[in-house]
Amino acid sequence: MRIDIVTLFPELCDSFLSASILGRARAKNLFEAHCHQIRDYTTNKQKQTDDYPYGGGCGMVLYAQPIADCLREVQRQCAEQGRAKPHVVFLTAAGHPYNEEAAKRLAQYEAVTLVCGHYEGIDERVIEAFGDEEISIGDYVLTGGELASLVVADSVLRLQPGVLAEEKGYQEESYWDGLLEYPQYTRPEVWEGRAVPSVLLTGDHQKIDAWRGQQSRTRTRLRRPDLYEHWCDTHPLTELPKWKRGENMRLVKTEEQWDVAARLFAEGRHDVCKDVCTPLYLDTLTPEHCREELQSERQNGWAFYLHSTKNEADGMVGVCHKTGQISHLFVTSEARGRGIGSKMLDFARKKLAEYEHPTLTVLDTNTRALALYRRMGWRPAGVEAVYDPADDPTAAVYCQELKLRYEAQ
Ligand code: ADE
Repeated sequence: MRIDIVTLFPELCDSFLSASILGRARAKNLFEAHCHQIRDYTTNKQKQTDDYPYGGGCGMVLYAQPIADCLREVQRQCAEQGRAKPHVVFLTAAGHPYNEEAAKRLAQYEAVTLVCGHYEGIDERVIEAFGDEEISIGDYVLTGGELASLVVADSVLRLQPGVLAEEKGYQEESYWDGLLEYPQYTRPEVWEGRAVPSVLLTGDHQKIDAWRGQQSRTRTRLRRPDLYEHWCDTHPLTELPKWKRGENMRLVKTEEQWDVAARLFAEGRHDVCKDVCTPLYLDTLTPEHCREELQSERQNGWAFYLHSTKNEADGMVGVCHKTGQISHLFVTSEARGRGIGSKMLDFARKKLAEYEHPTLTVLDTNTRALALYRRMGWRPAGVEAVYDPADDPTAAVYCQELKLRYEAQ
């Protein structure tokens, strides 16, 4: 790949591309990079590169002509090398947002030319005439496009074969695509009283991978819900955890089972409501109250199942054969992380085999549950209810109850 940077600060850009990992890769000819001085292409005596904007306003605008002539020279050099015409990118704060997907796309071109703006901007006509796209690296304004072009160059060049030789396996591992990185640690084992998570010292790579996956998913869910939603939709849970010995699902029938179900229901309600409902409302979620609610739902055609591990009830789920709905899916906090939720959801859906598209509802604040549903093929199908503190005395924060529909085969 060949990268060209068209800039008023070619030395700055060149020194970055000559340092560290990129510098070594460049020395090995794993890519070619050229930084061009816009000023060298000026035709006026003062070698002036910019002028006042038509229509007034503060700042200066880069002339079209020197940039155009510089781009023509880059095109000529590429043609001389027998390369394809370079893909021309203008770096501006008004461009399309940049991300890893765009980096992967740009990495496919044989030649990419990055044009750095400066001052207030670039004469729009040269962007129209030469630009294939305009990119912004984020919602903030830089004094020039140099840092932006280096961000793009770095993220594109690290994807070129051989540049990150050691990380090849990691890069190809599609599971990590679109997730934030898990935390990393190196020596010493204890630093200023902080120990490395013990799982990393076990040497058990299966356990370590599972822990890292969990860390990555939780981080992404909490820090970047937008990325996580997309990741869940594109990474379905294809293999459900196996049912283990001592695990079972039982229909709630006996008085004792109703008591247990009521207790789990109250615990689950508390869990999802604690951050979004008023303390007054939370106080009403007693096992007695929940038992009454379950009983009245039973009258309306609901059946409830308890999940137990070695005779200890640690999860529940409800299904309604009349309506094709699933609800009250809950796993106690102690039993989480063992795949019980996904197994119960699968169990409940199969109980409703007569429905092609069963439904359920979930609060939009319950991102952990939402992620599980999405990974198991459930998709948004509207808003069931809105809880707004402005007109709902039980609501502490605004949230929506989303309806989801099973859409997988
Ligand atoms: N030039 C100034 N600000 C920029 C940004 N955020 N991205 C790309 N180029 C820029």
